[in-house]
Amino acid sequence: MAKGKRVKRIGILTGGGDCPGLNAVIRGVTKPAHDNGLSVLGILDGFEGLVEARGKELYNKDVSGILAQGGTILGSSNKGDPFHWPENVEGKIKIVDRSEQALRNYEAWGLDALIAIGGDGTMHIAHKLSQMGMNVVGVPKTIDNDLQATDVTFGHDSAVFVVTEAIDRLHTTASSHHRVMVIETMGRYAGWIALHGGLAGGADILLLPEFPFEWDKVYEKVMQRHMMGKRFSIVCVAEGAKPKGGDLVVRAKDKKRTDPIQLGGIGELVAKKITENTGLETRYTILGHLQRGGSPTPYDRILSTKFGTYAIHLALKKRFGRMAALKGSEITSVKIEDAIAKQKLVTADNQGVQAALAVGISFGVEF
Ligand code: F6P
Repeated sequence: MAKGKRVKRIGILTGGGDCPGLNAVIRGVTKPAHDNGLSVLGILDGFEGLVEARGKELYNKDVSGILAQGGTILGSSNKGDPFHWPENVEGKIKIVDRSEQALRNYEAWGLDALIAIGGDGTMHIAHKLSQMGMNVVGVPKTIDNDLQATDVTFGHDSAVFVVTEAIDRLHTTASSHHRVMVIETMGRYAGWIALHGGLAGGADILLLPEFPFEWDKVYEKVMQRHMMGKRFSIVCVAEGAKPKGGDLVVRAKDKKRTDPIQLGGIGELVAKKITENTGLETRYTILGHLQRGGSPTPYDRILSTKFGTYAIHLALKKRFGRMAALKGSEITSVKIEDAIAKQKLVTADNQGVQAALAVGISFGVEF
């Protein structure tokens, strides 16, 4: 965009897996954009819509009443990476680069900036597009909370709320039937959802991707509780957790995605091994996409609204190539390239981990 030219028209898209709070960000961007005389193009289905030129004008009436709505009014996709585009060639999927097409559509729409709301994958794409000359501003979303550059991503709190409620419910049935209950959470390669949900729900064992666990330690903890007369146990396991020297449990692979691996199934394995090795009756629950659906918590509504309004502020100031971020209690911004440099993972010295240990929760491993 020419020097001195004002930002007059922005595009907005939601990329990757959805989560509660996306609509609150869209509202937080669109309302102040119109107040500042900008027009807003909603790009449909994430980067897919950018490559295929699918979008619709967003007016205030479109974002009115969506603050508390889960999902995204724009649609999303984790298969539309312009740099890793799955083309169907005679019934076979061929991966091609369609980033030039994405740039051409951006220009044809007359966009001065693009607001990309998404997680790690979306920010990688946003960074590459900004290197091609697109003016991009990022907003960090993901229930996984695994972006280093922001203290919290929106969507995480809502997912933790779901896990907590589920564990509360499992507690009552576990104690009635004197069973071990295993609950599997999402989170990909990061254990934040399991750690925070497990802490809030009062799980007895937490198995996280960051700390490969020992089977014996898991059985030991369950048996210890049993011996003490506590006739049930709750095990909260993240989908990316794996035993020491073992492999991730992969449900499926889909090469249309930038990361083809679909995790899932470790909860079932943990339940089976506990029954086999302790003789205790065990059941498992996979929470799956319940963690991504539904209305955002008040915390996420507030964070999303702050992120959205901050993103439009960044665009108006032409601070492109930056992502809104929460640092302490302040919203600020970081370079997108710094945001994607490091994944945020749970470490042993994390206060949540230390608090869990202090109240007797086992991680299935000696620290
Ligand atoms: O990144 C968010 C997330 O929900 C992960 O926790 C999970 O592994 C993944 O997305 C599931 O993706 P999908 O909805 O494509 O199966």
